[in-house]
Amino acid sequence: MTDARVAVVTGAAQGLGRAVADRLVQGGFRVCYVDVNAEKLDAIEHGAHAMTAVADVSDPQAVAEVVEAVLSRWGKIEVLVNNAGIRYETPLEAISLEEWNRVLAVNLTGTFLFSQAVLPQMRRQRWGRIIIMSSYGGQAGPLTSGAHYCASKAGQLALMKVLARMSAQDGVTVNAVAPAAIHTPEMDRIDPEKLARMVASIPVGRVGEPEEVAELVWFLASEAAGYITGATFDINGGLLMR
Ligand SMILES: NC(=O)c1ccc[n+]([C@@H]2O[C@H](COP(=O)([O-])OP(=O)(O)OC[C@H]3O[C@@H](n4cnc5c(N)ncnc54)[C@H](O)[C@@H]3O)[C@@H](O)[C@H]2O)c1
Repeated sequence: MTDARVAVVTGAAQGLGRAVADRLVQGGFRVCYVDVNAEKLDAIEHGAHAMTAVADVSDPQAVAEVVEAVLSRWGKIEVLVNNAGIRYETPLEAISLEEWNRVLAVNLTGTFLFSQAVLPQMRRQRWGRIIIMSSYGGQAGPLTSGAHYCASKAGQLALMKVLARMSAQDGVTVNAVAPAAIHTPEMDRIDPEKLARMVASIPVGRVGEPEEVAELVWFLASEAAGYITGATFDINGGLLMR
């Protein structure tokens, strides 16, 4: 078993997940980068401090295999960052049941499956951190995202509270991070006019950087954050003040 802390980050091939996983490695963690995109994962240079696993977070078998692979390599899992997510801007009337189900399956069911798979291990260790990448969309409704995305992100916040309450006595904290507009490859898909309007409404006057979100996750994963659980951390440039 390694002495270093061990983390699993989903959706880690690019964007926020990649920044979070890299930050944890930089901080001395052993990190398993999980993603459905094998090609992008392959491009990640990883030494002894990292491993990669191709898996779809909505597939229970694939999730179980990742957890097993990490435990057999490093003997424990202390941090889980449920970051994998998909987002569509489809207007309500045009959302097919198939698209609705897929968004819920990846964003919400994936978070449930991975959390369910690591919790027994974290409780045995009596130390764990689960961090869920939710969204402003799950708090305040859409900036540009569809109803399915917003509903999945709101669902994550309720799930986070259930997990936090049930694990609080076991040394396991569960928290959510709610970004609004962060500069990732996903953002490049937003119509530039829509994006400009969005940026104009952000009090700090710019979009956020993935490294800024990674720094918050880094703190929540640390020893110092042991008294924080069941909380949602806004990181949105002041877009939502509450
Ligand atoms: N970028 C933002 O402004 C923003 C704002 C709010 C919330 N978020 C949330 O942050 C998370 C990351 O967003 P991002 O902007 O980095 O997105 P992104 O699309 O750049 O990266 C998402 C990653 O998740 C992976 N992924 C998708 N489906 C998967 C699956 N089924 N199994 C495993 N991996 C899968 C993708 O391959 C990709 O590498 C998402 O949950 C998103 O909802 C992002």
